[in-house]
Amino acid sequence: MSAQLDTAPVVRPMRATDLDAVVAVEEVVYPFPWTRGNFGDSIKAGYHCRVCEVAGELVAYGVMMIGADEAHLLNLSVAAEWQRQGLGRFLLHHFVRIARDCRAGMMYLEVRPTNTAARTLYESEGFHEIALRRNYYPAENGREHAVVMGLTL
Ligand SMILES: CC(C)(COP(=O)(O)OP(=O)(O)OC[C@H]1O[C@@H](n2cnc3c(N)ncnc32)[C@H](O)[C@@H]1OP(=O)(O)O)[C@@H](O)C(=O)NCCC(=O)NCCS
Repeated sequence: MSAQLDTAPVVRPMRATDLDAVVAVEEVVYPFPWTRGNFGDSIKAGYHCRVCEVAGELVAYGVMMIGADEAHLLNLSVAAEWQRQGLGRFLLHHFVRIARDCRAGMMYLEVRPTNTAARTLYESEGFHEIALRRNYYPAENGREHAVVMGLTL
């Protein structure tokens, strides 16, 4: 069932107290989800971790690492019932703005070749395929390659 987006979404830094809600979404939207520890470590490492809320409800989140003039988007997720209402694009714009503000020259991400929704979103925002990382992701029947996509900022 989808939820109605009738209030403006708000983006703020992810905190340790968000992790129950983040992990609850993560475990629904990915077959091989990040763990609570992965998110906690990202916050502790000072990565750009953000959540997006609608009327106080956590509806989306993402994690981006910036180093050596390069931004790497490590996670971008929208809760299942809030998908397809522009939140993924909205949060992606937010991360691109952060990367530009930090003077990164490139933004990179990895995506499963089978993830049509994500690939379509990234392509529509100007990301290009630049490489294939072989056997990068765990998959039901072994491993799946990752498409590396990049955006010149
Ligand atoms: C990928 C994801 C972040 C997109 O977020 P979203 O809020 O549903 O997407 P948006 O509503 O912002 O859609 C933006 C564009 O993406 C594309 N898109 C989104 N969902 C799609 C789908 N199911 N099929 C095809 N294209 C899709 C469309 O081009 C869409 O633009 P349009 O609505 O104008 O046609 C979301 O589907 C998600 O969280 N998926 C599970 C986790 C995941 O795979 N994350 C990405 C890991 S690399």
